[in-house]
Amino acid sequence: MQYLFTLLLSLSLLSSAFAASADDWRKRSIYQVIIDRYALPKGADLTKCDPAQQAFCGGTWNTLKDNLDYIQDAGFTAVWISPVSQNYEGPRTPYGDPYHGYWIADASQLNSRFGSADDLKALSDELHRRGMYLMVDVVVNNVMGLKTDLSDLSTYMFKDKSQYHPYCPIQWGNTTSEQNCWLGDTNVTLPDVNTQDPSVVSAYTSWIQALVKEFNIDGLRIDAAKHVNIDFWPQFCGAAGVYCIGEVFDADAGQALQYQGPQALDAILNYPMYNALVSAFAIPGAQNMSALTDMVSQIKSKSKDPTLLGNFLEDQDVPRWASISVDPQSMWNAMTFNFMSDGIPIVYYGQEQGFNGNADPYNREPLWPSGYANTSSYQLIQKLNQLRNFMINTTSDWVTTPMQVLNETPQGIVISKGPVITALTNIGSPPANVTLSAKSGIGESVATTDILTCTQYATGSGGTLDFNYNKGGQPVIVVPDSVLVGSGICGHTLVKTSTGSQAGTSDNGAQGHLSTATASIVSAAAGVLLSLWTAVL
Ligand SMILES: *[C@@H]1O[C@H](CO)[C@@H](O)[C@H](O)[C@H]1NC(C)=O
Ligand SMILES: *[C@@H]1O[C@H](CO)[C@@H](O)[C@H](O)[C@H]1NC(C)=O
Ligand SMILES: *[C@@H]1O[C@H](CO)[C@@H](O)[C@H](O)[C@H]1NC(C)=O
Ligand SMILES: *[C@@H]1O[C@H](CO)[C@@H](O)[C@H](O)[C@H]1NC(C)=O
Ligand SMILES: *[C@@H]1O[C@H](CO)[C@@H](O)[C@H](O)[C@H]1NC(C)=O
Repeated sequence: MQYLFTLLLSLSLLSSAFAASADDWRKRSIYQVIIDRYALPKGADLTKCDPAQQAFCGGTWNTLKDNLDYIQDAGFTAVWISPVSQNYEGPRTPYGDPYHGYWIADASQLNSRFGSADDLKALSDELHRRGMYLMVDVVVNNVMGLKTDLSDLSTYMFKDKSQYHPYCPIQWGNTTSEQNCWLGDTNVTLPDVNTQDPSVVSAYTSWIQALVKEFNIDGLRIDAAKHVNIDFWPQFCGAAGVYCIGEVFDADAGQALQYQGPQALDAILNYPMYNALVSAFAIPGAQNMSALTDMVSQIKSKSKDPTLLGNFLEDQDVPRWASISVDPQSMWNAMTFNFMSDGIPIVYYGQEQGFNGNADPYNREPLWPSGYANTSSYQLIQKLNQLRNFMINTTSDWVTTPMQVLNETPQGIVISKGPVITALTNIGSPPANVTLSAKSGIGESVATTDILTCTQYATGSGGTLDFNYNKGGQPVIVVPDSVLVGSGICGHTLVKTSTGSQAGTSDNGAQGHLSTATASIVSAAAGVLLSLWTAVL
């Protein structure tokens, strides 16, 4: 029995390094990297990278591989890297050089700017050695060009004119046009590959199957997925045999979520939720909490599986959070939502360093000037990953348990996901005489801990929890102490879980009830105040 168990365990470990499914990815958290901007080789000049120049700065697959501790120590269990395919090589364009990797010429060749095939394999191997997944960004919709004609196709994977749609500028709002016309403009055209052409479908499916296999890729991020006919995707992702998450740049949940499901992709990047989070939390901003509650319910009804969607606050195409919101608490609250609600959290490199670049190219800063510092944001992310990984490793169903909105007011929202209750506010850093309450659903007189400050809370009558913001608007995540046993969080003894199936055994105290809670109550010096119900005292 023991042997069988070990065997099954090692089989599942083996398979986790190859062909990771949507089910596997649901349990991961992802750090997104632009290879050129993550790290430099030892000895390089650290002062020579100005995003405004739109030029190569020198990061490679090797420099990422040599600097993975920073990502793993933050608790991430997967890394999404910018495209690996060969790009346009030629004179600088009005938009600079293809340092970002999205200007594809021949998809079937690797981009030698970022290293060799062996280097990419070594990166993949190193991630797997650490128990982490590799997600690769792929661009299928288009190649890069300088003209609107297709007179010279010699540098491209597809060399026949019929394998492209003829030039037309996109007419936004017209689906056929969005799918068949050319992204880009007349400075840098992005010739649209004819993904209805059988020779294209067949070449792309063979290519992706071989790429995934050769480099042991665990998942794909699909660029411009909404600009490709939907029925292309099942075959492409079927051939890849791994989780596919697509960029569907659309704030409308109904529109965007057409791209999730067996007729399309496993999941999409959650742009609808991103927009709702900006509406709810950014300062200044609409400060519209109803927009968030409304989006949660839209996604519940329109998504095939909300727990597979990719939650983010930043990426290479949207402004850094700090450039649209002046108060770091707004980011910390929105970030906490992404980790404690349904879906896979994704953090774009540099957000943890408070980068504030606005639109492309300023939101593609080099990471090295930050010194990879252990900032407040980094520490928050570490805690969010720690709790999420712990819940995933020690329960079979937390990650698939649907989130609920327990309460919403103009200043805040309280959500639950299983026994994890999260209170978020948009009031920002200054203290305010605001209280947010909710029926926790975890019972009456239950001892809980806010895992961000280690402050103790006890549920009141009817299981009510009160969150008071007279010390400022921090996020709060309360978890029953009985659930935290073995977690290593807030003084609960850490019980190492090797892979994810064994729960912690016992602990040195804090069990979930009133007497213990009262005894171990700590004063809430740094955090949101303990809400002490008269019933408790
Ligand atoms: C939508 O775009 C397609 C492709 O460019 C075009 O043929 C069609 O006429 C457009 N439809 C409308 C209603 O404009
Ligand atoms: C807030 O969002 C809701 C839901 O999306 C919307 O109906 C409402 O008009 C918005 N309120 C304001 C003031 O913009
Ligand atoms: C960052 O600092 C926090 C608080 O001092 C510490 O607990 C944590 O281990 C540090 N993280 C790293 C990666 O050094
Ligand atoms: C959970 O499992 C992941 C993947 O095996 C591992 O990296 C992580 O350290 C574990 N985390 C906890 C809190 O047990
Ligand atoms: C806080 O608000 C409550 C209810 O709105 C009010 O009764 C109380 O006086 C306020 N306290 C302070 C210190 O302003």
